Amino acid sequence: MRVCVIGGGYVGLVTGSCLAELGHNVVIIDIDEKKVLSINEGKPPLFEAGLEEIVKKHIGKNLSATCSFFPVKDAELTMICVGTPPDNSGNADLHYVRSASESVGRALRNQDKKHYVVVKSTVPPGTTDGLVRETVLSEAGRGNIAFGMNPEFLREGRAVWDFFHPDRIVIGCHEQDLFDCMKRLYQGIEAPVIQVLPTEAEMIKYVSNAFLATKISFSNEIGNICKRMGIDVYRVMEGVGLDRRIGKEFFNAGVGFGGSCFPKDVMALARFAEGMGVEPCILKSVLSVNEDQPGKMISLLEKRVGGLHGKRIAVLGLAFKDNTDDIRESRAIPVIRMLRERGAHVAAYDPLAIPAMKEVFPDIDYGTTPEAVLEGADACLILTEWPEFSRLDKEFDLMNNRVIIEGRRVLKTHGYEGICW
Ligand code: UGA
Repeated sequence: MRVCVIGGGYVGLVTGSCLAELGHNVVIIDIDEKKVLSINEGKPPLFEAGLEEIVKKHIGKNLSATCSFFPVKDAELTMICVGTPPDNSGNADLHYVRSASESVGRALRNQDKKHYVVVKSTVPPGTTDGLVRETVLSEAGRGNIAFGMNPEFLREGRAVWDFFHPDRIVIGCHEQDLFDCMKRLYQGIEAPVIQVLPTEAEMIKYVSNAFLATKISFSNEIGNICKRMGIDVYRVMEGVGLDRRIGKEFFNAGVGFGGSCFPKDVMALARFAEGMGVEPCILKSVLSVNEDQPGKMISLLEKRVGGLHGKRIAVLGLAFKDNTDDIRESRAIPVIRMLRERGAHVAAYDPLAIPAMKEVFPDIDYGTTPEAVLEGADACLILTEWPEFSRLDKEFDLMNNRVIIEGRRVLKTHGYEGICW
């Protein structure tokens, strides 16, 4: 199938490359020339396990990138995979979706051949049937175009694996032929495929992320209660999660969730609800529990070491989770900010995310090894679930004072204290 993917960012590049691996002819269209150049050179502009191999294998064959929307005209299907960042008030900013829709519409002007436009970006319910449909059709003139919504459920760091092993494929559409086209697109992937309306598909994406975020905040709240009582929340949630109706995933209590999706999507869904006069009590609480966890870690630290002024605090983990260099909404950001406000001397280490964090905090100390930051430290905070931290043990002997506060439950060493266990 000839497919155009609009947007060579995280979702577009992974989706386009994996569709090429499935045997389709894929053109990735992005307005950023540098990105296009690097994709065409076989060097993905972002790190994602397994992605480079796939791009290298197909580039120049059934995968290419361009800044021109011209290839849309000859494609059967166009997938819109552009970003929907939050605007100043937390709503999803749809201006990239609008401009992509305009360009797709212009490329399809006066075209009679059937074309499918499918939105993959996370967008508020009603966007595909409203903004996208209206914009494309008004630019295209009267065309033979059908519209659909196919949310992505890829996790950063595991996106290629997730693409080929999804729990489900959700296709929101009004026409049977679009549904059949999407089934052909994903042929070879074993997963239940469900057909819903575009608004339902848009909602499924938001609700999935909101529910996962809710599980985390719920677990953190229970953790905060358990901590007071000397109960281990991990053992509690293990017992709770064995109930198949509940499930054990996403119950890891700690310093809270970050990343480019959960905070933004929960906020956008809450704003969307408020815009309609529905009070999103649970969604707001999910965010407020998450906002409070970093402060809880600092309070615990102050309880253990006293005033932080002039103290050397080692921070292990800067990325918002393991296996990525992404620091967007990382809980390390508010933690480091609070440490600095209290006059602490921060020494930080992360296997991948130091360059990114240097942009936010250029003047804290960064170490190239855990030992370098632990040496002489008055306390250590664990903020990312990097598996390599589980091997740390003797390294903590380099500290002035062995106060270790764990925000992720990844350590195997003795004598640390969990933020909420
Ligand atoms: C998330 C979803 O898991 C994907 O299904 C979805 O497609 C994606 O958002 C998206 O909307 O694009 P991602 O943000 O890559 O994926 O990361 P997750 O692995 O879900 O972790 C998010 C945050 O939650 C991390 O900061 C992680 O440390 C934290 N977390 C996760 C916990 O604090 N506890 C847990 O039990 C699990």
